This record gives sequence, structure tokens and C-alpha cells, in this order.
Amino acid sequence: MKKLLVTGGAGFIGGNFVQYMTGKYPHYHIYNLDLLTYAGDLTKHQKIESNENYSFVHIDIADREAVNELFEQVNFDYVVHFAAESHVDRSITDPEIFIRTNVLGTQVLLDAAKGANIKKFVHVSTDEVYGELDFDPASFFTEETPLQPNSPYSASKASSDLLVRAYYETYGLPVNITRCSNNYGPYHFPEKLIPLTISRVLNDQKVPVYGDGKNVRDWLHVLDHCSAIDLVMHSGEIGGVYNIGGHNERTNLQVVRTIIEALGKSEDLIEFVEDRLGHDKRYAIDPSKIERLGWRPVYDFETGIAQTVDWFLENKEWWEQIISGEYQQYFDRQYARK
Ligand code: NAD
Ligand code: TYD
Repeated sequence: MKKLLVTGGAGFIGGNFVQYMTGKYPHYHIYNLDLLTYAGDLTKHQKIESNENYSFVHIDIADREAVNELFEQVNFDYVVHFAAESHVDRSITDPEIFIRTNVLGTQVLLDAAKGANIKKFVHVSTDEVYGELDFDPASFFTEETPLQPNSPYSASKASSDLLVRAYYETYGLPVNITRCSNNYGPYHFPEKLIPLTISRVLNDQKVPVYGDGKNVRDWLHVLDHCSAIDLVMHSGEIGGVYNIGGHNERTNLQVVRTIIEALGKSEDLIEFVEDRLGHDKRYAIDPSKIERLGWRPVYDFETGIAQTVDWFLENKEWWEQIISGEYQQYFDRQYARK
């Protein structure tokens, strides 16, 4: 039985990846390592928690002793590293935890993996490490685009990417780095644009759109991201970087309007608020390299959004429980400034 360590498997993308992999590879044992920060929750794994091939490990990736102990206990074949602080707005108000988790935490994992005989360490990164593009629709991020991160979040992810590269070059650790565009889908934490919009529109609350709403993001359904990581983990060339994206560029205003329309509500809910500091104008991925590996996304944006809106309608108890707690204080603090 192959042993796969997934860090951050209680979060949005890691959680979907754990579900995807347990379904597709019943002969793999999946270890979900997560600290369960505000962004992590295990209710999403209730259906698999008693499976023999699933284990949850409650560990901080920056806790060297605990991580080393785990690697001594289990001989992992693969590590897929999602665990991170992931929200740009939080990184602007509180950058330090981003350095601790995303940079130091990654280094602790790399050290542990270096001493183990693993087949592959996949580091899940983001297109935000490349900085921003202008609005020329012919410009894209490729794997050769220089790293020019603009937010504390993207700077911490770029730093971790460089460490992963260094462990490949220096110690020969078999790594891949994936850089995906913005994800959306089930279990998306409602601090990010799409789930925040869906949950607020459903409650007839105003939706805060930063600046003029013309910033562009390139959206990918989370399950298409999962299939890409699966492919890179098994078939990616060792040491290689792979950009992941499905050519679904939309302005923020288009995204918000699509959701409002899908829910049959009024555009009067849109409220333009003060812009984010250092707000990246546009992200867009050239996915040719991963396409050459055989990957194709399944979801176009309209189908994916319709499915996601339905999921939020059917799973109200999941997000209502999140937005009723500490989240409300976060929202009031964050948006009072705007
Ligand atoms: P998320 O915030 O939903 O989940 C992060 C998970 O990591 C949570 O379960 C949290 O409890 C866990 N975690 C945080 N600190 C930890 C620590 N010190 N030790 C152990 N676990 C810890 O994030 P996400 O949106 O699922 O993103 C996952 C990864 O994918 C991140 O590395 C992110 O940079 C990358 N990524 C995200 C997107 C996106 O659109 N969300 C796009 C591209 C890449
Ligand atoms: P977000 O979901 O935070 O992802 P990222 O910053 O990693 O791209 O934001 C997506 C876009 O939506 C980004 O351009 C900022 C914008 N945005 C808003 O306009 N209003 C909001 O309340 C949030 C959270 C984001």
C-alpha cells in the first residue's frame, strides 16, 4: 500500500484532494496532516474518517520535532504539501504568521522529506508568485516568468518555492512545484471572493467589490486542480514546475454578477469599496506545459459556478456555522477599514 502524506488536508483544496484521492486510489493510505487553524475543518471528511486507509494527524508543520517523529513512524512514498496561510487580505494586516507557516513550515517538511526515501514531494504553489499582468489578453504567466510577488502572501509562497527548488538542486530531493490560478468549488472558505459572494447574496447582504471591480482572475474548479496535482505527482518530470489553469479569465465584477444572476437576486447588492493595498491587476495562466503531460480541465466556468452555487445551497449548515462564529469579527474588522 502506497503511503501519501497530504498537508493542509482539512482546508479547501487539500480537503477536496483527500476526497479525490481516497475515491480514485483505494489502495493508497492517505495521512491528512493539519493544524486545524480557522481555515481547517474535519466535518468534510466524516464519511471517510473511519476508513482503514485514512488517518488524521494533528500537527503544526512548523513543529520540527512532531514532523520528524511522524516521518520516523511512517515511510511516506509521496508528500503533497498544501498547508499554508492562504488569504491575501489577512497577509496584508498580519504578515508574520505567513512567514512562519509558509516559509519555515515548508522548510521543516523539506528537511524531514530529505531524510526519508520519498518518491515525490509536490509543493502546491500559486500563480500569484509571478506578480501581476497588464490587461493585454495575449499576455500569460509561463513557468519562465520571473517571480515578482507583490503581497506578503505571494512573497511567502515564492520564498517557499525557492526553498523547494534549492532542496532539489542541493540535495536531489525529488520535487515538483505546481502554480495554479484561483480555485473555486465545494468547501471554499467564505472569506474568498466567490464563497463570500454566494453566502452574502443568499443572506441579502451587500457584496464588497474592491476598487472598480475590473481586476481579472483566472478561475479553475478545484477538482480540475486536484486532477492536475495527481498527474504531476505520478508523472511530472522531477524538478519541474507546472502552471495550472483553464483559460477562464473574468473580472471580479463579472464573477459577482454571474453569482447574483444565478441566485435570481438584484445587482443593487453590489457595493464598491476601497481597493485592496497593492491589488494585483490581472492573473492568467499559460497551461501548455501541463497540457503536454496530458491534463485537460473538465469544468468551464459557467458550469462550475452553477454547480458551486448549488453546492452552497445544499450545504448551508457548513458555511452558516463558519460565518456565525469568529468569522463575523474578522469580517467586521476587515471591512470596517474599507
Ligand atoms: P485553506 O486556507 O483553505 O487551507 C489551508 C489549510 O492548511 C487549513 O486546513 C489549515 O488548517 C492548514 N494549516 C494552516 N497552517 C498550518 C500549519 N502551520 N500546520 C499544519 N496545517 C496548517 O487554503 P487553500 O485555499 O485550500 O490553499 C491550499 C494551498 O493551495 C495553499 O498552499 C495555497 O497557497 C495554494 N493555492 C491556493 C489557491 C486558491 O485559489 N485557494 C490557488 C493556488 C494555490
Ligand atoms: P480572493 O478570493 O481573495 O483571491 P486572490 O486575492 O488570491 O486572488 O480575491 C479574488 C479577487 O476578488 C481579488 O481581485 C480581490 C477581489 N475581492 C473583492 O473584490 N472583494 C472581496 O471581498 C474579496 C475577498 C476579494
